[in-house]
Amino acid sequence: MNKTVHKRAHITSDVAAAAAALKRGGLVVFPTETVYGLGADATSDAAVSAIYAAKGRPATNPLIIHLATAEDTARLVEMNDAAERLARAFWPGPLTLVLPYRPQAGVSALARAGLETLAVRVPAHPLAQALLRAFDGPVAAPSANVSGRLSPTEAEHVAESPLARHVAAILDGGECAVGLESTIIGFNEAGEPQLLRPGGIAREDIEAVLGQPLRAATTPASQPTAPGQLASHYAPRAKLRLNALAPEEGEMYLAFGPDAPMTTGGKAVPGLNLSPSGDLAEAAANLYAYLRILDDTGVDTIAVAPIPATGLGEAINDRLRRAAAPRPAKQRSAPQGEQT
Ligand code: TXA
Ligand code: MG
Repeated sequence: MNKTVHKRAHITSDVAAAAAALKRGGLVVFPTETVYGLGADATSDAAVSAIYAAKGRPATNPLIIHLATAEDTARLVEMNDAAERLARAFWPGPLTLVLPYRPQAGVSALARAGLETLAVRVPAHPLAQALLRAFDGPVAAPSANVSGRLSPTEAEHVAESPLARHVAAILDGGECAVGLESTIIGFNEAGEPQLLRPGGIAREDIEAVLGQPLRAATTPASQPTAPGQLASHYAPRAKLRLNALAPEEGEMYLAFGPDAPMTTGGKAVPGLNLSPSGDLAEAAANLYAYLRILDDTGVDTIAVAPIPATGLGEAINDRLRRAAAPRPAKQRSAPQGEQT
């Protein structure tokens, strides 16, 4: 059988058919500006349960609910002043807000992992918007990767993964422009905004809108640790060696910036540069795709250049630290509590 044809079998641009598949309780992979999502009807326990099964994700880890507009989200959660300001500034876009859930709003308890809060997001990608409008309801969607693995930023990443056999359709929206998951903001018991997961919107931009610094995440007993906060995560198969000024013999190099040594002793250094101009947004957009390419060479270790910690660099460094963390023995069989 022709492998290419087989891999593309689920890939489509038919939004109406994808929305119909969601209505039937099926799983649909769709592009967002951050990463591809694995979507299901958020009001259906059965559909949401299929997400957990496909990803190998523990049911204690709640999902982000995607909606077409900020008005739609306000029917599901209680907004507050800071949330309103953030929504106006960044929606549609790579921001997720964790807010008190309105009881009886119809979201599956499984999608909420039984919590009193709900994570909501209004994605900007035109195909995500088209799908949400055609479906006309809340869509639960984690990143479309097997738990603990790199998030997909191209339709082919999903088509090639074991997830593909669980889904009715993969909507192809090209490469994700942001390339890192959304920034997640929650509120502590005093109502102060907290950074639960650094992501596609830089902390500095959020603090500028709020006019106050973001608190570090606390994890009250009533809330789970966002798995994005756990040690080993977003991991390729190869080991990562961080803050490497140059690769050692046998390593692949994930470089950054104009000064990266891409040759030594007249020989090309094997690897890729996340952004030869030193642009952190470009580096974020390339991060997962380049890690995949280097991982697919079968190399044992990927050496990663130092990345500045400012702006989107905070989220890039966060993902790199988790990808570099020691892995549980059976990473490939979905370690407990380490998934998004
Ligand atoms: O960019 C994104 O956010 C992508 C795209 C597809 O929208 N989605 C994504 O979903 O990254 P996922 O499931 O991979 O990560 C969602 C994170 C998890 O760390 C989860 O624990 C956290 O959101 N989360 C969800 N509901 C929560 C809640 N009520 N309180 C605290 N954390 C929550
Ligand atoms: Mg994830």
